[in-house]
Amino acid sequence: MSSAQARPRGAAGEPEVNTIQSLIARRKPKHTLEQAFYTDPEIFQADLENIHYRDWLFAIAACELAKPGDYVTYNVGAYRVVIVRGADNLIRAFHNTCRHRGSIICKAAKGNAPKLVCPYHQWTYELDGSLLWARDMGPDFDPRQHGLKTVHCRELAGLVYICLADEAPDFDSFAEVARPYLEPHDLGNAKVAFESSIVENGNWKLVWENNRECYHCGGNHPALCRTFPDDPAVTGIEDGNTPAHLQAHFDRCEAAGLPSHFRLDGDGQYRLARMPLKQGAESYTMNGKAAVRRGMGHAPFADAGALLKFHYPTTWNHFLADHSIVFRVTPISATETEVTTKWLVHKDAVEGVDYDLKRLTEVWIATNEEDREVVENNQQGINSPAYAPGPYSGTQETGVLQFVEWYCTTLADRLAPDAVAAE
Ligand code: FES
Ligand SMILES: [Fe+2]
Repeated sequence: MSSAQARPRGAAGEPEVNTIQSLIARRKPKHTLEQAFYTDPEIFQADLENIHYRDWLFAIAACELAKPGDYVTYNVGAYRVVIVRGADNLIRAFHNTCRHRGSIICKAAKGNAPKLVCPYHQWTYELDGSLLWARDMGPDFDPRQHGLKTVHCRELAGLVYICLADEAPDFDSFAEVARPYLEPHDLGNAKVAFESSIVENGNWKLVWENNRECYHCGGNHPALCRTFPDDPAVTGIEDGNTPAHLQAHFDRCEAAGLPSHFRLDGDGQYRLARMPLKQGAESYTMNGKAAVRRGMGHAPFADAGALLKFHYPTTWNHFLADHSIVFRVTPISATETEVTTKWLVHKDAVEGVDYDLKRLTEVWIATNEEDREVVENNQQGINSPAYAPGPYSGTQETGVLQFVEWYCTTLADRLAPDAVAAE
């Protein structure tokens, strides 16, 4: 926190428990947040504890775990998680922390193992987390009491979500809304054609703010703008007056069996809408034509646009007729965020035959790099003592405002004393 004025301190020099709430309460409407929200390690920790450690987080595509024993590890803040496909084909998530003396068990980012074996003293766990073997632990030792701690895990139409909270919030209402939108894309029969992970030197909220508008697209994304409409109605939120061109697109897609209408969660945590690309464009390629010859799922016409989905705080996605792109946003520190992008194609599509990898990925690799740069520029400017909250455009940045409102409301509610007392 940058100043004593911004962060009142208690008698012992400890931060006031309600400081973050005070900062939220005094927020200037329709303006960016105060500096501390983008820079302060204590607020970053509050973000983790109240948002990332409590909400459902998109983690991986289910196709990344194609066969039993396939696992992927994922770190969120202090937590170490391993997500694994069991011998019964079910996907489960566990804390990647041994029940003996706490070592990390799976160290690789991904792999395949018939059992999960701790590298320290070789305690051996089944793929369902139960402890199978531990040497010389004596007659009183009960293996059943020492299985891996589970992490809530749900698969939704080929997307795997986890929740680190002891008690997970409701997932079903989101799943019921999202499933009909997602199922036509047949993500269960996908494979990862390519993945990239970059670290942006910016707060995770700046990554999101940047994602939720296309005010910056014309000036920064020459490749993306060949196909993605620089249209605030596409990135923003619906205000009850759907523009005629969007309504016509929604209606055409719905008539062909693709759920498409704009859906914004009542709490603002997720949005779904199938948005048109620029006239005649089929996919995010330099010439606008499909990148993959073998399409994915039910694609009644090539110009069905992109199903745009976001689900705070970790994912935005684009599902196209020929491929899908899933993004994962993982906070690392107050000023560092990992953005992981995966290009999904039909599992039987063959590189070099059905798609050219460069052509498939070049637009979003360039776009991610351009976004990294604008986010880092944004962070550097905010780090200055001269930074002051600035106004969002009511035309171009309704989506950003929607994200910031969701963030502030969520954090304030969860920090409220009665919310703590009720737990
Ligand atoms: S810490 Fe895992 S076996 Fe000892
Ligand atoms: Fe961008």
